[in-house]
Amino acid sequence: MMRLLSVVGARPNFMKIAPIVEELTKFSDIEHCLVHSGQHYDELLSGNFFTDLGLPKPDVNLHAGSGSHAVQTAEIMTGLEPVLLDYKPQMVLVVGDVNSTIAAALTAVKLGIGVAHIEAGLRSFDMTMPEEINRKLTDTIASLLFVTEQSGVENLKHEGVPSEKIFLVGNVMIDSLLRHRELAAQSPFLNQLGILQNGNGRRPYGVLTLHRPSNVDDPKTLQGILSAVNTVAAEVPIFFPIHPRTRKNIEKFGFMRYLAPAGIGTSAGIVALDPLGYLDFLSLNNSARIVLTDSGGIQEETTVLGVPCLTLRENTERPATVTHGTNQIVGVNPERIVAAAQAILQQPIPQPRRPPLWDGKAASRIVAIIRGHLRGQHVQ
Ligand code: UD1
Repeated sequence: MMRLLSVVGARPNFMKIAPIVEELTKFSDIEHCLVHSGQHYDELLSGNFFTDLGLPKPDVNLHAGSGSHAVQTAEIMTGLEPVLLDYKPQMVLVVGDVNSTIAAALTAVKLGIGVAHIEAGLRSFDMTMPEEINRKLTDTIASLLFVTEQSGVENLKHEGVPSEKIFLVGNVMIDSLLRHRELAAQSPFLNQLGILQNGNGRRPYGVLTLHRPSNVDDPKTLQGILSAVNTVAAEVPIFFPIHPRTRKNIEKFGFMRYLAPAGIGTSAGIVALDPLGYLDFLSLNNSARIVLTDSGGIQEETTVLGVPCLTLRENTERPATVTHGTNQIVGVNPERIVAAAQAILQQPIPQPRRPPLWDGKAASRIVAIIRGHLRGQHVQ
């Protein structure tokens, strides 16, 4: 019997672990424990995702909660250590780049337990991003590195990681998207928002998401972005599901004036929404004419959906979304954002293209490799 333990904690982890959990259940020789760190605890950021993705309730919840980086990371580590000592997994699986990822990886390796990192090798080369620190440290200590795109393989090799630890397997986030896309398309959510279908199948609205500390903690940057998006929103309504960090800052800085009050209708303006569940957000993105975001995962999802995406950051750790997808890196200069968005609204809708191996089968490749590894053999 092989014993595996996975740790998730924050919203973007849940859609990455879901296809792996599903795949693991196919093997009677695998026992699996799902641990939730509690980094995200609101229903809107956590519980709803378990329901939408069909994830089982976590076996253990560490209830680490919010705090400074040091406090949050330490809470997860001290909570996880006794769980690992008790469950004795042969391998710990971590996904993505959040504080729960590095906290779990560090706790496991210090106990001599091997770590598999899913979504390894991505690099923004911007060490002011907490996620970049988390990625680099996790990759340094993990024994199996599962990579979504070729740039990740090159980054790891450049850092001196031996090739036999690196596996280009595709993208588990896209596994989840392809599995749920049809269900999301049937959702009544767009009708509830009052969004009407136009002739070309794509509906005339945009989507905005913002949560990066570098964009939402600095009033000048946040105001520049909101005023730019407001200009774009004079042409098409822009739906804005607001992350709690961002909402707090919008209220604190007095920027509510940029948001259209809820229920005003959908002809124009930035329409504020609460954070959405997985299926509602997928249905919103699936039909959008344009997405503006500072998220990493949304750059990947829009690529596969064929929705033009403007990334409101100076860099991306996911260059395949630019070279093989619909993504443009526009930064946070307001004039640049408006010009890029207006150009997209005038251009024809692009054909979706996919980076290699973004085919919905990443989880089965990963589980095959882990099983082979634990049996003392390497599966390529
Ligand atoms: C975290 C991840 C980020 C990921 C994002 C997705 C790190 C370093 N950051 O950022 O990579 O893209 O999740 O959302 O791990 N809060 C709530 N309810 C919750 C959780 C948080 O209101 O359930 C509020 C709290 O005020 C908290 C703040 O959001 O202080 C930030 O939460 P935190 O988990 O520290 O980081 P995120 O900004 O969510």
